[in-house]
Amino acid sequence: AASSAAQRQVDPLPSSFAELDRRIGAPLGLLAELTHRCPLQCGYCSNPLELLKANRELPDAAWLDIFTQAAELGVVQAHLSGGEPTLRKDLEEIIAHLARLGVYSNLITAGVTLGGDRLERLADAGLNHVQISFQGAHAETTERVGRYPGAHAKKLAAAAQARDLGLPLTINAPIHRLNIDEVPDYVALALSLGADRLEIANVQYYGWAWLNRSALLPHRDDVLRQVDYVEKIRRDLTGVLAIDFVTPDYYADYPKPCMGGWGADAFALTPDGTMLPCHAAQTITSMRFENATRMPVRDIWERSEAFNRFRGLDWMPEPCRSCERKEQDFGGCRCQAFAMTGNAAATDPVCIKSPHHADLRQLPPRQEIRPRVIGAARELV
Ligand code: SF4
Ligand code: FES
Repeated sequence: AASSAAQRQVDPLPSSFAELDRRIGAPLGLLAELTHRCPLQCGYCSNPLELLKANRELPDAAWLDIFTQAAELGVVQAHLSGGEPTLRKDLEEIIAHLARLGVYSNLITAGVTLGGDRLERLADAGLNHVQISFQGAHAETTERVGRYPGAHAKKLAAAAQARDLGLPLTINAPIHRLNIDEVPDYVALALSLGADRLEIANVQYYGWAWLNRSALLPHRDDVLRQVDYVEKIRRDLTGVLAIDFVTPDYYADYPKPCMGGWGADAFALTPDGTMLPCHAAQTITSMRFENATRMPVRDIWERSEAFNRFRGLDWMPEPCRSCERKEQDFGGCRCQAFAMTGNAAATDPVCIKSPHHADLRQLPPRQEIRPRVIGAARELV
């Protein structure tokens, strides 16, 4: 029922390629989830409930072909993620290929599998940037959230090595109830590591994180305190440390402009080559997505039903259709709309104008956090 309701509210695809061309720009960035394998078990993971095992991962030749096609289409930045992308033994070849294509590569890593000279080999292959996630600003929190003993020390070592190699460094801080009090400590940590950028990213509740939302959602007062602090420290550290802030939208009046709009300038790839308009799009179980090993990347980007379904503004239902903010937030996040209403075409319930806005904080009874593990979804169905 959710699927047919979604389809009814969406305008039909444009009938001519000339019409498509007028509204489709080139993608500039992609997020490649090279593997779903991961040494951590974070309860806030926003990957889908069912993860792909190693035997579903694309071989390196297929990745190289997809990246070549992406570069021809206009992609200039590739974010290599997972799971843990360094578990791929062919990561050096992938990075070297991106360097040959002139595509800027960013490694998004938990930083616990970069022992020995691995980071140096990746830098030699042409890696341009490293982003290391810290589940806490202190060892005890990092290890409790990621369920990996010794993780914090390994991350510190990886960050120091990145600096020694001259690689630009971003520290990623995924924020939720268990670590929201550590935001000032994250700033101190990023400064002590000589990071160029700190990403304070309030957790988004899709995929696995949706199951844990009642345990992870911070209290409103803590969120408001965090917003005030980040606004002030950002000003104070201008020119010293860049701070990106993914806002905690459960307590907002208006949604975020998720992905800068669906199919606007970026896409994601899963370990088996499925091409998605955003990294969480497979949580919209009513949609079907094409695979880049079976259809050219350009065709998927320009012509596939999934990429065109929520592209632009014409698909919008009311209240977005007649709203003055629709070109600022594009109606919010499709994945969040689906998770909360069962209809991916609905106005994001974060919006105060959504009929579902009042349901936003109707949380299920609080439970222990379920750790993320491959195969764990089977116990839930
Ligand atoms: Fe954004 Fe739609 Fe809400 Fe307007 S009604 S603010 S476009 S989500
Ligand atoms: Fe998928 Fe927002 S995360 S559209």
